[in-house]
Amino acid sequence: MDRYAVLGHPIAHSLSPRIHGLFAAQTGAALSYVAIDSEAAALAETLARLHTEGYAGVNLTLPLKVHAVALCSELSARAQAAGSVNTLIRHESGWRGDNTDGAGLLRDLQHNLGCKLAGQRVLLLGAGGAARGVLQPLLDAQPAELTIAGRTPWKPEDLAAEFKDRGALRPCTFLALKGDRYDLVINATSAGHSGATPPLPPGIYASGGRAYDLSYGRAAEPFLARARELGAVQVFDGLGMLVEQAAEAFSLWRGLRPETASVLAALRS
Ligand code: ATR
Repeated sequence: MDRYAVLGHPIAHSLSPRIHGLFAAQTGAALSYVAIDSEAAALAETLARLHTEGYAGVNLTLPLKVHAVALCSELSARAQAAGSVNTLIRHESGWRGDNTDGAGLLRDLQHNLGCKLAGQRVLLLGAGGAARGVLQPLLDAQPAELTIAGRTPWKPEDLAAEFKDRGALRPCTFLALKGDRYDLVINATSAGHSGATPPLPPGIYASGGRAYDLSYGRAAEPFLARARELGAVQVFDGLGMLVEQAAEAFSLWRGLRPETASVLAALRS
């Protein structure tokens, strides 16, 4: 039986074992998938042990995604662009690091929710690890505009400078958003975890504008509630992205893409 694990700290409430269990049942795969609590300081040792024990793949969640980059023996192009890894694939000599978060977001937005990005005005909020992880796939989807806004001015500026050869990206402060209009606003800040929401000016949502939060559950509520007040016609949390990034990891490991709609419906119920 092939063995997989998700590592993070804390990890007890991770939905990944349930999601991969549903994928396994659906595809008839004989596999185990467990959650293992690991702090960053113990990650090197934990990954070495899982490799020795024959694990076929590993997922990483907070706070390990950036830390794990240095522990991979090779990295995919999208993991390099993201500067973080959420999926490890076993190689004889070590772990190949990949990042399926951006692909998961794009698949949820474009395929599940019908939000086409090409030609749209898109605003990304936050300039930390989560924002960085989805920048390249967002640029690749060819929006008419992609603005990245953050609380600490140099962080969006640094990201825009780093990605300048890979697509047009405008860095901005929250204050400077006054007068802008967007078709899609994506929240990649961690503000919702403390019940806060990034300060957006009235009029930020264009007619028909939509809001997406990379978080799900309670952490997504403040931003999505504020989005409704500001006139967003549809608001979405990131549970679909979670399922889609898992499906992408599953297909890297098993060469088979699971169906996700029934898994998302099971989690929502
Ligand atoms: P993650 O890996 O989840 O992205 P992170 O790297 O700590 O975590 O980044 C979190 C992002 O959310 C940062 O851009 C942070 O802004 P600062 O860099 O200025 O701290 C942003 N953020 C957190 N709380 C916020 C709040 N209350 N309002 C606006 N932005 C916030």
